[in-house]
Amino acid sequence: MHESFLAHRGLRYLWVSAILLSLSILAYLWHDPIPRPNGGTWLGYTLGTIAALLILWLMAFGLRKRLYRSTAGTLRGWLSAHVYLGLAVPVLSLLHSGFQVGWNLHTLLLALVFAVVLSGLFGVWAYLRYPPLITRNRDSATRSAMLEEIAELDRKALELADRIDPKIHALVLRSQQKTRLGGSVWHQLTAGDRSEGVLKALNLLSERQRQQRAQAPTGSTMSGGATILAMVDYLAAAPDRTGEALRELIDLIARKRSLVARIARDVQFQAILEIWLYLHVPLSFALLAALLWHVLSVFFYW
Ligand code: HEM
Ligand code: HEM
Repeated sequence: MHESFLAHRGLRYLWVSAILLSLSILAYLWHDPIPRPNGGTWLGYTLGTIAALLILWLMAFGLRKRLYRSTAGTLRGWLSAHVYLGLAVPVLSLLHSGFQVGWNLHTLLLALVFAVVLSGLFGVWAYLRYPPLITRNRDSATRSAMLEEIAELDRKALELADRIDPKIHALVLRSQQKTRLGGSVWHQLTAGDRSEGVLKALNLLSERQRQQRAQAPTGSTMSGGATILAMVDYLAAAPDRTGEALRELIDLIARKRSLVARIARDVQFQAILEIWLYLHVPLSFALLAALLWHVLSVFFYW
């Protein structure tokens, strides 16, 4: 099986991160500054500097991702190191500040560290969970092949509806025009299905037609209203092959709906795979700005 980025090279970066953290925690426990541990002691400066350098390096991942010709390690190796060393940053930050938090801008910096790490954790979860689901849902078809199949089903459905009745044709056409894939971010994330209940309507129609045939085989008239229920009367009196065509139409539309649902799910999975980066990246830039401000301000007041 394809090796996950988490298990890259026998968990090499997990070890690097664990050793870095163990040494930092031991130093923190051993160090006994007066009056209490804080960012201004020699250990505080050391841990703060390590955390800041790590942040600069973690941000460089965005550059490495875009330098396709770079030979500086594989992307998977970078990602593995990014995740494990990224997780060390909040712990180093807390040790650096001596766990001093308050309602100030230094603590905002700390909060940004946690926010970036949490969004990153969501990303890792999404990268592990969704790719297999995407493959299974696509069932070896591509999205464009599924879209083509939908177009073909739509065309056949219209042809068939036209043969049944102009009103059914109009109903099917309206439903086809209302089928929307993609759309707003919320719509993509929730895989919302806005297609009209045309299938329900046609099924009802077919059912009522069958009932009417059983109870009152003749004598119904087409009423003026354009509602589906009004058409039932008309279809009940229509020749038998109309009923057959109707059932064929229902089958076509049902197939289309299941394809639409699969594409909506595909769009949803893809959206979840990407949405967290819209938090992770801007938050990491905010973190960089806050870090710069923090370093400048502590030197300014020094
Ligand atoms: C990820 C990086 C960093 C984080 C999250 C961070 C966070 C913090 C926090 C929360 C405090 C406590 C503020 C308070 O007393 O309320 C602090 C103090 C301090 N930090 Fe940082 N810091 C980072 C990096 C740095 C760096 C790179 C330096 C300097 C080179 C630095 C220098 C200081 C100093 C001197 C203090 C003590 C300020 C004082 O006690 O008045 N920090 N830091
Ligand atoms: C303070 C720490 C962190 C910073 C500053 C940071 C910053 C970044 C940046 C700039 C990127 C590049 C995104 C892009 O350009 O497309 C990135 C990607 C990524 N980060 Fe972080 N990150 C941090 C911590 C973490 C942590 C702790 C995790 C996971 C536990 C994580 C998970 C990821 C993942 C999975 C990607 C890859 C996105 C992709 O290749 O599509 N990050 N991060």
